[in-house]
Formats: sequence, structure tokens, C-alpha cells
Amino acid sequence: MESNKRSNFSGSIGFVLAAAGSAVGLGNIWRFPYLAAKDGGGLFLVTYVILALTFGFTLLTTEIAIGRKTAQSPLTAYGKLHKSWGWIGVLACLIPMIILPYYSAIGGWILKYLAAFCTDATATVADGYFTGFITAQWSPIIWFLVFLAATTGVVYMGVNSGIERMSKIMMPILLVLIMGIAGFSLTLSHTDANGVTRTGLEGLAIYVIPNLEGVTFGKFISILMDAMGQLFYSISVAMGIMIAYGSYVKKETNLVKSVNQIEFFDTLVAFLAGLMIVPAVYTFMGTEGMAAGPSLMFVSLPKVFDAMGGIGTIVGIAFFVMVAFAALTSSISLMEAVVSSFMDKLHLPRKAAVLSVAAITAVLGLVVCLGYNVLYFELTLPNGSVGQVLDVMDYVSNFVMMPVVAIATCILVGWVVKPQAVIGEVTHGGIHFGREKLYVVMVKFITPAMLALLLLQSLGLFL
Ligand code: PHE
Repeated sequence: MESNKRSNFSGSIGFVLAAAGSAVGLGNIWRFPYLAAKDGGGLFLVTYVILALTFGFTLLTTEIAIGRKTAQSPLTAYGKLHKSWGWIGVLACLIPMIILPYYSAIGGWILKYLAAFCTDATATVADGYFTGFITAQWSPIIWFLVFLAATTGVVYMGVNSGIERMSKIMMPILLVLIMGIAGFSLTLSHTDANGVTRTGLEGLAIYVIPNLEGVTFGKFISILMDAMGQLFYSISVAMGIMIAYGSYVKKETNLVKSVNQIEFFDTLVAFLAGLMIVPAVYTFMGTEGMAAGPSLMFVSLPKVFDAMGGIGTIVGIAFFVMVAFAALTSSISLMEAVVSSFMDKLHLPRKAAVLSVAAITAVLGLVVCLGYNVLYFELTLPNGSVGQVLDVMDYVSNFVMMPVVAIATCILVGWVVKPQAVIGEVTHGGIHFGREKLYVVMVKFITPAMLALLLLQSLGLFL
């Protein structure tokens, strides 16, 4: 009954923008630029692009094809492909359920900063502003709920009038904003208290020129692992999303082209994020200023915007609007992966499924927010980082469950149902699949082996 009533993206542009909206997220903005600056600039960029065209292309093609072929949600698609492999679907549905609450908590932080930049931008520069905010009792919870309500509202409106329509509005605006800020970053120049002048263009050189100094074999492997881990997270695979979105793609849509476009968009935004962040941070803080994650976005960048003077407030507002859009299109996709699963498995109507998922997320998100005050603890994770509730949820989902799902998917497609199952779907209607042979080798051997290394690394057993 599901397949004939199933919603559809109206065309390939709607699908590509929604999928790219999912792929473009916080990772593109707060991790990619940092890794590029740390890992030899252009060397990292080239490695990343090669991986996107091989490793990333394989995983993305596989999931979108599984979604379209089965016309099922992540929870139910794997079982439809092969009876004994339905368990992957359970994991693939649990992952977005775990990620959505903490992703939305961070979404709340972004909205809070957007509001702060609109009222009193300099306040955000004060020492301890960020820690003060996230450890507060109510404020993070309220902003989390606002972000969750926005996500819920869009998913409630459905695939066409919600997800597709909002992606078509938010993604072009995001692109314009990020290009504008990146252009501005390149024009910066600043003389510090010691009389040293640094410019955005020098920062650009650090970002794009390959730096081979001190690159040994061991160092290259660690760059490769960084690029692979980043790509794996960035393209939104192994969390059910691309299966859910794939299940809404019409049979006429060319999947080969769509996968290329999604990857192009995702990589372009990551590259532009670097163009925006690396030169700006370098100009005002030097090479040591680059950081990743929340400390980049909520501590270092506000200082950079402040140092720009009056215009910094406007740049900061543009920046946080852009980041909010990036986060929102990602959280929408996370919620949709779970909602579609509830709809297909429990035969719930969309509205009931959306409200149930929102309620579960609200409870879990509350725990995440309280993780910084009443539920505070410090736990050392197997990969060496120390964290609170949010980091533990991030670790379990991203570092452990996601590689397991992706490896199992490769084994299922490569060896059990055979690559032809995906190839047949991709070439439906006579579409030419240029990288077909590469796909077969990648899905059977190389991709699962690379993912196994990633999993070992996450468990603290490799590198
Ligand atoms: N691909 C997103 C990013 O780069 C990650 C993500 C997507 C996380 C969707 C959650 C949900 O940030």
C-alpha cells in the first residue's frame, strides 16, 4: 500500500537540493576548514575530492538506489532487499533518532548566537560567554525547542510542500551568503599589536596550496583517514537519510547525475566554508587560531567578527543565518528518516509520526541540554576525547554505529544481493552508468575495507 501512495519529489532539482541540504551541515562549516588547514592545505583538498569520486560516490549511489528500488523507509528497506538483513534497518533508523536530539541542541545554540548578533554582538566575545550559555538552566532548552519546532514544522508539511520547498529556498540563499562572506574574507588585512600585518590572501595560500613539508607515509595515512572520516560524515550516508530521500525519487530521475550534483554541491560548500573561515581566522589570529567544532564557531569566530569592526556584526548575522539554514536542512532530513520509518513500519499517518518523533526528540534533547549542568559528567571515550551526554551520543552514533551500518550495507549489496541490484536501479530507463566497473570493485572490496579502518580508528585500535 505504501508504494502507490508514497510522496515524491517533484523533480530532480528538488531531490538534489534536499539531499544536498542534508549533506551540507555543521561538518562542512566547522570541521572541513580546520582539517584542510591542518592537513597540508591543497593536499587535503585533492585527497578529499578523489575520495568523493570513489568512496563517497559508491556509498551515496548505493543508498539512494536502495531507497528508490524498494520504495521503503530505512527501517523497512533492508528487510525488503533481503529477509535476513532487516537488522541493518533497525540500526539505520536508530542512528538518526540519536543524532537528531543533539544536532537540534546545537541548532539551538546557533539560533541563540544569531539572536545575540542581532542585539548585542560584542557580548559574545566576553570570556566564558559560550560556556555560560550552554551551562545555563533554561536558555539552551528554550533555544533547542525553538529549533526543534522549526524542524518539526517543515517535516509536518510533508515531502513536497515542506522539505522540497524549504530546501529550494534555503539552499540558494545559503550559497549566496557563503560566497559573499568568503569574498569578503579574502579582502581582509590586519596589523596586530606587534606590528605584524597578515592578509586574507596569505590565509588563502595556506588553505589551497599543497604543503608537502614533513609529509611522511604515516602522516599521509592520517590525512587520508581525516579526509575519509570527514567525507563519510558529510554525505549523510549510513543514517537512513539517503534511503528515505531515495524512496521519494521518481523513476525518471537520473541517479548518476543526481549523485554527482549532490557531491558537487556538498564539496563546493565545504570548500567555500574554508575560503570564508581560514583567511579570516588567519588574518586576525594567525595560524594558531584555527579550531574545529563548537570552539571555532562559538568562541573564535565571534572574536574574528568583532575584530572586523562595525561591519563584523553584519558579517556575523549573515554567517549565523547561513549556518542556521545548513543545520536546519540537515535536521529536517534526520527527522524525515525516522518519520518515514514510523510511517512505513507502524502504518501511521505523517502527522502522527511527526508528532511522535518530535516528542521523543524533545525528551532526549532535554537530556542533552541538562548534560551541561545537572547531568554533568566527564567520560573519556575510546577515541581519546572527553565528553558529556552530547559527545557520548555523537560517539556511539557517528563513530560506532554508522561505520557498522555502512560496512553491512556494502556486504549486503556487494556479496549477498549482488551489485547488479543497485546497477539495475541506476541504469533503469537506459541511463549510462559510467563508473559501473569502479562501483563493483569499490562496493565489494575497497569501501568496506576503508570503513573497517575507520571503525578500528574510532575504537582506538588504529592510528
Ligand atoms: N552531513 C552533515 C554535515 O556535514 C551531517 C549531518 C547530516 C548530520 C544530517 C546530521 C544529519 O554536517
